[in-house]
Amino acid sequence: MKFQVVILAAGKGKRMNSDLPKVLHPLAGRPLLSHVIATARALAPERICVVHGHGGEQVRAAMAGADLRFALQEPQLGTGHAVQQALPQLGDAEQTLVLYGDVPLVRAETLRGLLDAAGKGVAILTAELADPAGYGRILRNRQKKVTGIVEQKDATAAQRKIREINTGIMVLPTAKLKQWLPKLRNKNAQNEYYLTDLVALAVKDRAAVTGIKVADAGETEGVNSRVQLAQLERMFQSRLALRLLEAGVTLDDPARIDIRGELSCGRDVRIDVGCVFEGKVSLADGVSVGANCMLKDIAIGAGTRIEPFCHLDSATVGAGARIGPYARIRPGTELADEVHIGNFVEVKASTLGHGSKANHLAYVGDSTVGRDVNIGAGTITCNYDGANKHRTVIEDNVHIGSDVQLVAPVRVARGTTVGAGTTVWQDTAPDGLVINPKRQEQRGDWQRPRKSPKK
Ligand code: UD1
Ligand code: CA
Repeated sequence: MKFQVVILAAGKGKRMNSDLPKVLHPLAGRPLLSHVIATARALAPERICVVHGHGGEQVRAAMAGADLRFALQEPQLGTGHAVQQALPQLGDAEQTLVLYGDVPLVRAETLRGLLDAAGKGVAILTAELADPAGYGRILRNRQKKVTGIVEQKDATAAQRKIREINTGIMVLPTAKLKQWLPKLRNKNAQNEYYLTDLVALAVKDRAAVTGIKVADAGETEGVNSRVQLAQLERMFQSRLALRLLEAGVTLDDPARIDIRGELSCGRDVRIDVGCVFEGKVSLADGVSVGANCMLKDIAIGAGTRIEPFCHLDSATVGAGARIGPYARIRPGTELADEVHIGNFVEVKASTLGHGSKANHLAYVGDSTVGRDVNIGAGTITCNYDGANKHRTVIEDNVHIGSDVQLVAPVRVARGTTVGAGTTVWQDTAPDGLVINPKRQEQRGDWQRPRKSPKK
């Protein structure tokens, strides 16, 4: 059956205490609303319409997409009023599914079940809560058939004891929706046009109304405050962590991993605690990532070990490599197989060939480094002249001693050995030794200064 989706996202989100519209607050690195849109898209609806109000322009700008329509609701007079604003943007697909922009964790399977249950009638997604305070309650008759929804603020003491609540997610036949919406009245405790009042109207109209209980009430939790946002973040992260464990990844502690994007892992990958993955990250077979690493938009080859406390951003690392601890790999870096990058080494926009090493305290920027090169401790590529950046080329099999400056643009030819403490500012010829002549002196008459006595 054809259907369309309305996402309600016009609420102010006052309790977030933020200038950012609530639905743009990130969950797992993406706006709340984009999770809902992604779930809606997974169902392949005819159309998706987002109802926005507060911060509308920002919402539109953040959510661009050819399949998306937007409707402005100003002022915000309730959920029924919100759906009414969407009507002109909607087509006449047989069913309309209503989602909330601040309920990001609902699963596509759950929504498919709800659409199936609705058939040509109305279906409401409900939840059984230990503490139903604040929610609309589901009213059922003796035959357990849904007869209506009453909001907390309008409910009698007896109705408030009902623990089955309205999650807000529902399916309505579009043609009926168009007839029922104009009948809504706002004579209630909040002076709002309640979408929930359509349920009693549907029953009166003898439409079939089904209430489906969600299996996991966590799925339909909404975000009203930063506390709830933080709770949903943990819930979402633990979902992702369990998925990784099931796929065969070792997580030293599934409660201490953060994935803000897509993480794909090969076989027997191990991830220690405190790691953050952003954007698109892929870890090939047998990769291990030590504690407290941050990996963003990166591909890592098989068997590579990332030691603790590394920061890797927009780069590729080959197989059998060893990175860190305390290494920083910056955008545009390509490290071949078997490369070793050690502690306090920064690599930016550079390629390092097979088996090359920079094991301690170095800066390699804007450089092309060949195979089997050794970059000694304290080596710096001086790539910036104060105005422009220049490239350094280090050919295969070069050995660079400690504390060397390579003043770019410069080319160190294959097989060159650069002595410790050398400043290389001219291209070298292959296979020679390059040093800056210096003289070491010994002054026997020199005395180490002494601390003057305290006055
Ligand atoms: C609503 C339901 C309630 C349900 C609860 C679940 C109604 C009348 N009540 O209550 O039965 O238990 O959700 O969380 O529907 N919104 C708009 N425009 C408006 C008002 C709201 O777009 O004028 C959007 C909000 O951005 C939000 C959603 O609709 O995404 C729900 O609004 P909210 O104020 O949180 O609903 P409740 O009053 O809590
Ligand atoms: Ca409200």
